Amino acid sequence: MSRPQEADFHHLTGDNGLCLATMGTFVDAKPERDITEPDLQFLKSLKPHLSVSELKAHVLESFARGMNTGGVKYRCFQSLYHLLPAITDHYLYTSLVSRSQKGLFLDLGGGQGTDARKLIQDGWPAQHITISDVETFLWNVGLDLYEDGPKGPVQFIKANILDAADINSGGPLHNFLGATDVVYAQAVLHLFNKETVKAYATTAKALVKPGGLFIGANCTSDPPGAFGKREDSSGAPWLYTPAGFKAVLEEAGYVDVRIETSPFDDFIRRRGFGPTHWDVDISKLFGDSKRQLIWATWSATRPTSS
Ligand SMILES: C[S@@+](CC[C@H](N)C(=O)[O-])C[C@H]1O[C@@H](n2cnc3c(N)ncnc32)[C@H](O)[C@@H]1O
Repeated sequence: MSRPQEADFHHLTGDNGLCLATMGTFVDAKPERDITEPDLQFLKSLKPHLSVSELKAHVLESFARGMNTGGVKYRCFQSLYHLLPAITDHYLYTSLVSRSQKGLFLDLGGGQGTDARKLIQDGWPAQHITISDVETFLWNVGLDLYEDGPKGPVQFIKANILDAADINSGGPLHNFLGATDVVYAQAVLHLFNKETVKAYATTAKALVKPGGLFIGANCTSDPPGAFGKREDSSGAPWLYTPAGFKAVLEEAGYVDVRIETSPFDDFIRRRGFGPTHWDVDISKLFGDSKRQLIWATWSATRPTSS
């Protein structure tokens, strides 16, 4: 099939997101790596009627639609980061899904919604889960990939965590202030600069109810430093050391802050990525092969008295 023309896509790119209509296979929009059988495990659990080759074809078609509607901006999307849930790696995951009371769960920067779908599969009530993201693009990619209804299985709220107007009275996240049992930020905080990481942590704390949790995971580094070439007018995204990141959470007023670390490479392998292209990309990204990248998984509690 030939490459589609721009006119074929104009209806895909509006704020309502991807159209779920069947599209052709776009010949030159391929992921950065091969799809492995472990990559397909979660999708298979949601679509058990599809064979491995059908699942692979569906992933590739959905990927091509995403690439042709904005995916070129997202490195993680191009490496199929979203196919596997990441939340199951969190050391609190088993205890969270075993809770008898499963209150409001807010995934801040929830992307395609893979983790939210996993949570539902493991018993968290869908009506208690919300995904919020500054962009709708990745969420729409998730709708296209999972095909679980025009609006998906959970509420999606478009909001910028760094914009007070989106949090305060009348803003789209206003109802979550002080009301959320668990705020979750997976692979989000490495996108922010030194100051905006702090702002994110502080806003998340305002959303968590007293005694509630702020949890997540992201890349840190030793020594700390800017996140490669991604500098913009607001300053380069910054990777703290794990201890520096812990201090950010404590300074934001959280208690019981716990950080568990593992080599970034292990995280990549656990997720079924071929490490090769990441080895290459990381050295290019940081321009410093001596810098150690560390995956940090963390949890922090809003004090009951604040
Ligand atoms: C690397 S993706 C991770 C997505 C998802 N949590 C996952 O693990 O698959 C980072 C996400 O953070 C979102 N994000 C970035 N800045 C944000 C902001 N200021 N407010 C809300 N979301 C933001 C991005 O749009 C993107 O969906």
